[in-house]
Amino acid sequence: MRRVAWTRYGPPEVLELTEVEKPRPTDDEILIRIHATTVTAGDCEQRELRLPFLFKFVMRAYIGIRRPSRITTLGMELAGEVEEVGASVTSFKKGDQVYAATGLTHMGTYADYICLPGNSDDVVIAKKPASISFAEAAPVPVGGMDALYYLRQGEVKEGDRIIINGAGGTIGCYAVQLAKHFGAHVTAIDSSDKLELLRSIGADVALDYSKEDFTKRDESYHFILDLPSKAPFSAAIQTLAPAGTYIFTSGSLTTSLRGRWVSLRSDKRVLGGATWPKKEDLEYLGDLLEAGSIKTVVDRVYPLEDVIEAQRHVESGAKKGNVVLSLVDEGQGK
Ligand SMILES: NC(=O)c1ccc[n+]([C@@H]2O[C@H](COP(=O)([O-])OP(=O)(O)OC[C@H]3O[C@@H](n4cnc5c(N)ncnc54)[C@H](OP(=O)(O)O)[C@@H]3O)[C@@H](O)[C@H]2O)c1
Repeated sequence: MRRVAWTRYGPPEVLELTEVEKPRPTDDEILIRIHATTVTAGDCEQRELRLPFLFKFVMRAYIGIRRPSRITTLGMELAGEVEEVGASVTSFKKGDQVYAATGLTHMGTYADYICLPGNSDDVVIAKKPASISFAEAAPVPVGGMDALYYLRQGEVKEGDRIIINGAGGTIGCYAVQLAKHFGAHVTAIDSSDKLELLRSIGADVALDYSKEDFTKRDESYHFILDLPSKAPFSAAIQTLAPAGTYIFTSGSLTTSLRGRWVSLRSDKRVLGGATWPKKEDLEYLGDLLEAGSIKTVVDRVYPLEDVIEAQRHVESGAKKGNVVLSLVDEGQGK
């Protein structure tokens, strides 16, 4: 089978398409034929360890000190079909179409096949919504679930005025649609070429971050989701309504400490850090996708062979929504 080897930290060119033996599931595992996976900003950050200092240290210790050695393939989400089921697995059967988030422990979806635990909460696997394609399903387990997690952390509800900063990317496009589904008034911020898309998926206001600083508007917000973690910290906190929540995804230690201080000293909350995906959340998103309440924005689909080109495209910043790697011709069924 094909697998994209990742054996050095560095630019997209460190990735190499290789042929390896197809894995065999243990009694506790299922073997999934991967139809589609994604190239995310997070994959690119991991590939070259472009991470905040402390997190970089932890990731290097986990993946490999000098080079990736414990983990040697990127990719943390997939849509595919169950091909084999271990003897003790009861929740899945051969032929099930699934989508999954592997977490760090089982990452490696840039490959034709993967074995994942069939009975464990270590990975989140759910039945893929039948009405959407594998390409539309693959970005949901990370992008969709992270967006849902952040909005729930912010307790976003009907009538709330909220900011999604970095709304035109993977997490942002789901966050805008989910927030609209919850009845919030959404101001979505990204670069100028993504504003039309943001309006088309429901944003009430779409702002170009290079032209306007949302913290200088005469408005206050119940919730600010700062996906690129680039909003000016103090000004963003000032912009929060009483009891409002500000979430950053990848700040420095200083930002974390300042956030802790704000949360201790006021009724405003500042949150950051890891998300916790759950199977119920993936199933909930599946229902919304089936109902057409949200959709996946797919920018480009690349064949696995073009993984380097796909990574370059993601790093160029031109990506709108999601970039997908297709491993099986979509013509072979939804
Ligand atoms: N902590 C966690 O558990 C966790 C989980 C998932 C993701 N993350 C992190 O969250 C971040 C967002 O993820 P993603 O997958 O949604 O990324 P993405 O798809 O690259 O989207 C980010 C968007 O932000 C825009 N942007 C860049 N600078 C901006 C600025 N100054 N103001 C407003 N928008 C700006 C980008 O547009 P342009 O490029 O056109 O500027 C892009 O559209 C990543 O850094 C990722 O690693 C953290």
